[in-house]
Amino acid sequence: MVTGAASGIGLALARRFGAEGMRVVLADVEAEPLRAAEAALRDAGVDACAVRTDVARAESVEALARRTLEAFGSVHVVCNNAGVFAGGLSWEVPLADWEWVLGVNLWGVIHGMRSFLPLLHAHGEEAHVVNTASMAGLVTNPFAAPYTVSKHAVVALSETLYHELTLRRSPVGVSVLCPEAVATRIGASERNRDAGAARAPETAEQAFVREALTRSVAGGVAPEAMAERVVAAIRDRRFYVLAEDDWRRAAALRCEDVRLGRNPRFEPPRPGG
Ligand SMILES: NC(=O)c1ccc[n+]([C@@H]2O[C@H](COP(=O)([O-])OP(=O)(O)OC[C@H]3O[C@@H](n4cnc5c(N)ncnc54)[C@H](O)[C@@H]3O)[C@@H](O)[C@H]2O)c1
Repeated sequence: MVTGAASGIGLALARRFGAEGMRVVLADVEAEPLRAAEAALRDAGVDACAVRTDVARAESVEALARRTLEAFGSVHVVCNNAGVFAGGLSWEVPLADWEWVLGVNLWGVIHGMRSFLPLLHAHGEEAHVVNTASMAGLVTNPFAAPYTVSKHAVVALSETLYHELTLRRSPVGVSVLCPEAVATRIGASERNRDAGAARAPETAEQAFVREALTRSVAGGVAPEAMAERVVAAIRDRRFYVLAEDDWRRAAALRCEDVRLGRNPRFEPPRPGG
C-alpha cells in the first residue's frame, strides 16, 4: 500500500512493487491521476487497486485499511509517502498552511501507522513500513518551517517506531526515506488544496522558496531512483534511506553543532530536498 501513489515518488514505488510481482493498493487524494495510475499498472499486468484517500483524515485512512484487506486479504508493505510543501517566514505562515502541511505530512503518517501497524502484525509474517521524510528532516532551512517541522517530526516518529519494534522483537521493519531533490510535482502541491479557499498574496519569502524548490526539483533525480533505494532498504532491513554524500555532510554538520553546543549554521542543501 502506497500513499501519494498517483504521482512522483509514490507512483515510482507502486510501479516498482508491481514489477516485483506484488499486488498494489494505490492511495491518493487526486482522483484523475489516481485512476490513470491504476489503469497504467493494470495494463502492465499488475494486480492494482486504487482507493481515493485523504491521508490528513483519520477516517479516510481507516477506510483505506479496510479496503486494502477487502481487496487483497492482508498487507505486508506500507509506504506513508503522500506529502505537500508550503513555505514563508515562520511567524508569518498562515495557520491554514501550517494545518495543511502538518495535516498531510505528519498526521498522514500518524494515521497510516495507527491504521496499518495492527494489520502488519496480524499475520505474524515479515512486513515493512516506509515513511517518506526528506533530507529536510535532518537539516534546517529558512523560509520552509511547516515542511521542515513536518519532516523532522516524521524522522523522529520513525526512529521511535524503530526502537519500539526492536524492543518488541517484531517481524515488522521500518525505514525512513530521506530524498534529496527529486523530479516530481511537489512544486505544484497547491493543486491538492481546497479549490475554494481564499489565499493571501504570496510574500517575498514564499516566492523565493517556491522558486528555489521549483529549480531544485526540475534538476532533481528520477523518482525511480528512490524506488530502487527503498526496495534495497526493505530487503536489507535498513532504517535510513538517505541522499548522497553532500546532504549527509550537511546533516553531520548539524549534529556536530549540537554536540559542541555551537549556533546553527545555514549551509544549504536546498529546501524541498
Ligand atoms: N520531490 C522532492 O524533491 C522530495 C524531496 C524530499 C522528500 N519528498 C517527499 O516525497 C513525498 C512524495 O512527494 P513527491 O515529490 O513525489 O510529490 P508529488 O506532488 O509528485 O506527489 C505527491 C502525491 O501526494 C498526493 N497527496 C497530496 N495530498 C494528499 C492527501 N491529503 N492525501 C493523499 N494524497 C495526497 C498528491 O496528490 C500527489 O499525488 C512527499 O512526502 C515529499 O515531501 C520529495
